[in-house]
Amino acid sequence: MLNCQSHLDLVEGLIDGQAVEVARDTTILAAVRLLNRSVPTLCHHEGLPGDGNCRLCLVEINGRMVTSCMYPLRENGFVVETDNEDIRRARAFVLEMLVDRCPSSPRLMALAAEYGVTPEERFKGDDDLCIRCGRCVRACEINGTAAIGFAGRGAERSVTGPFFTAPDDCIGCLACAAVCPTGKIVFSEKHGRRSIWGREFEMVRCCECGRPYATPGQLSRPEFAANEICAQCRRRLMAADMKRSFTEY
Ligand code: SF4
Ligand code: SF4
Ligand code: FES
Repeated sequence: MLNCQSHLDLVEGLIDGQAVEVARDTTILAAVRLLNRSVPTLCHHEGLPGDGNCRLCLVEINGRMVTSCMYPLRENGFVVETDNEDIRRARAFVLEMLVDRCPSSPRLMALAAEYGVTPEERFKGDDDLCIRCGRCVRACEINGTAAIGFAGRGAERSVTGPFFTAPDDCIGCLACAAVCPTGKIVFSEKHGRRSIWGREFEMVRCCECGRPYATPGQLSRPEFAANEICAQCRRRLMAADMKRSFTEY
């Protein structure tokens, strides 16, 4: 049996026939990943609170279909299946709706191909790339900014700043673009200026290499406050320090 945790409050069961023991309340998805198995996901991101809105990560537990990213393992004797005909059919159904909305997202099209799904001709070219997964909104919330949110209903629902305007509270940190699974959120960096969500930011230059690397708003965040140099220079200086200390040793 694979024992994935060493503390006491454990539950045990089977995942795809393999015995497993995990900490109580581990989600099925986390347990599956501990076994180095995979389940497709879109709205889930390790660094963000769960939301469970895309329903692509469906699996069966004790014969019942659930979203694996949100379902906690609480009882002993669970039997999880991550792949069978019903599960593949259910995921294909989810993908059919998503690819009709976003037929030019490479990530979605790769998943669709895996499940034998093709977008309907009539939807091609009518593509906004947003699957309304909310990752961007959650990323912006947990960085304390909450500059963007959902507005509108049904097919018109979209991510935007307040009242469909460029978000005044945006600090240009790019967290939203980094977690977007479809490439919907675009930004540019040119001549020391970064643009995103209709906002433009003068970037701060790295004290070491002089390259523009962050916005003033980003550097005002406590987690960035001590960083006067860019990530590449930090890594380079750290490596040089380590090399020096090994040589001296
Ligand atoms: S770039 Fe702006 S909208 Fe995106 S996460 Fe950062 S603050 Fe929020
Ligand atoms: S913009 Fe990207 S991250 Fe945000 S809801 Fe749409 S697909 Fe998800
Ligand atoms: S990844 Fe689980 S519901 Fe979206």
